[in-house]
Amino acid sequence: MPRKASLLDGEFWAVTVLLAVISGLLMWGVVIFPIDQYLPEATSASVDIDFIFRFMAFFSIPILVFVNGYILYFAWRYHTRKGDDITAVGTSIHDHRWLEFWWTAIPSVLMVALGIISYLVMPKYYLASAASVATVEAIGHTFYYEFRYPGLKQSIVNEMHLPVGKQVTIDLTSAEPDIRNAVIHSFWAPEFRVKQDMIPGMVVPIHFTPHEVGMYRIICTEFCGLGHSDMTGKVVIESQTDFDRWFAAQQRAQAAAAMPMEVPLAAGNAGAGGRLFAQRCIACHGTGAFSERKVGPGLGNLFHDPAHPTLVTGKPANADDVVDILEHGASSPEYGAMPNMQVNRLTPKDIADLVAYLQSLHQ
Ligand code: CUA
Repeated sequence: MPRKASLLDGEFWAVTVLLAVISGLLMWGVVIFPIDQYLPEATSASVDIDFIFRFMAFFSIPILVFVNGYILYFAWRYHTRKGDDITAVGTSIHDHRWLEFWWTAIPSVLMVALGIISYLVMPKYYLASAASVATVEAIGHTFYYEFRYPGLKQSIVNEMHLPVGKQVTIDLTSAEPDIRNAVIHSFWAPEFRVKQDMIPGMVVPIHFTPHEVGMYRIICTEFCGLGHSDMTGKVVIESQTDFDRWFAAQQRAQAAAAMPMEVPLAAGNAGAGGRLFAQRCIACHGTGAFSERKVGPGLGNLFHDPAHPTLVTGKPANADDVVDILEHGASSPEYGAMPNMQVNRLTPKDIADLVAYLQSLHQ
């Protein structure tokens, strides 16, 4: 049955009111949605970024609902029905000056407003700030985060601690030992609403004030190689007292590590070494053959490989030389750099366990 082609009849307005109601409900939902309950607003930056997110979502909803609502409604209303002349050409409608004016003006105003808000918010966080209590350096490596604190001689790996309520500046960069291994990483802490690339040769400062005590994730969101998905860290926001306690413990541990040490090789436990390997080493090393390379070579035949009797350092593959690499790290043009035991947070006992584990492997 052919339908009347009249455009602005009662049915059209009924649909318009329905779309307005759906839109209004969703917009109200955006206003009251407790983002903080699902993704804590852990820093000062979170609050501002979530405001921008709400602003965008709020005004996107009527555009989404009306555009798609009318598409569906008109597709249904004007589709060809039984008995219609299928060769008939529809009425061509174009040029409605007021409609065109408003659908150009409203989005333009919204885009400009969004631009102004972003312009006001971005420099609040993406800058160094003299008001910060400290500047922490964060360096992306393949595939871990290194954090340098003023007052600590050694870096901390994959774990950042910050006191609550104190503004802090973080200098972000990516440091790779040579240009062939230089890649871009990223520092993303979802609960902080902070996401910034770590770029070789470039230091990007950000600053914010932690608001909520807790433990949060740091995730690399820039594809940086085979170990990219393993490149995660954590950041702990704690009271000043807890932070001071942690800081003092780090200082004590580093002072102890500076003493000459004896690796108790005979006490090495292959089981404990295997668990440790799965946490600390697996991002760069597999347990396959030497050629099954991730970043460094596969270590499954480290001690039993006639084809590779020497280590990447050129020394024979015996326990003492493997201990030497675990303690001091190693670097080769082909495989890049492996960090030392302080950066890898390995104790002498850990090294003994890892050597026992590697000795137990046989491909
Ligand atoms: Cu580092 Cu992805």
